[in-house]
Amino acid sequence: MELRSAIEARTSVRVFKDEKVDLLHIREMVRLAGLAPSVNNFQPWRYITILNKDLTKNMAAVVAAKIEALPSSKSIAARNVKKQVTWFSTFFKDAPVVLALVVKPYKTVMESGTELTHDEINKMRNYPDIQSAGASIQNLLLAAVDMGYGACWLSGPLIARGEIEKMLHIEPPEKLLAFVVVGKPAAKVKPKPKVNLADTMEIIE
Ligand SMILES: Cc1cc2nc3c(=O)[nH]c(=O)nc-3n(C[C@H](O)[C@H](O)[C@H](O)COP(=O)(O)O)c2cc1C
Repeated sequence: MELRSAIEARTSVRVFKDEKVDLLHIREMVRLAGLAPSVNNFQPWRYITILNKDLTKNMAAVVAAKIEALPSSKSIAARNVKKQVTWFSTFFKDAPVVLALVVKPYKTVMESGTELTHDEINKMRNYPDIQSAGASIQNLLLAAVDMGYGACWLSGPLIARGEIEKMLHIEPPEKLLAFVVVGKPAAKVKPKPKVNLADTMEIIE
């Protein structure tokens, strides 16, 4: 598929066929994700491929419990919001493949040349580790489309980040940053409307 077609066809897919995904295809998606630009080419990421349904169900249960425990009114509207947020943060449990993206601290020249700490430099540069991870995830999403799959990026489950990091044995200085689910779409999903180009592009001459 042409890159431009893949970009135009990509849309978040949240409901999947009950079909196994060939692990070689996931490997290829992660390989392509790894070709993304990154701060100092440090490639500050790794992807944990989770195929274990008991594990994803347990993760989703912890996420749901965290959302349920959020302070909120007992109104029907508030209950509906929680229900919606819970679905968007836990549907990953039914996806054939769940990828957890873990970021690790990168090394900068500045760290050895100044008194600044890694965290200070990272903040000053506006979190290039997270920016790099975003580029990598987008590569993965486009690779999934190109290979005939659907995918969705998720940050909602991070409400239970500490608990999930323990379940996935992620230890500092590594951090869980996001999830991507992959599978064969259960149905065709229409691409979402996007804002006009004029609203997102400014030219300074
Ligand atoms: C950083 C990030 C976090 C997201 N987190 C979630 C999520 O937790 N749950 C979910 O269902 N979708 C999530 N999405 C998908 C967005 O809802 C989706 O990209 C957006 O609605 C636009 O739709 P499209 O991807 O089909 O163009 C996330 C997307 C991004 C980029």
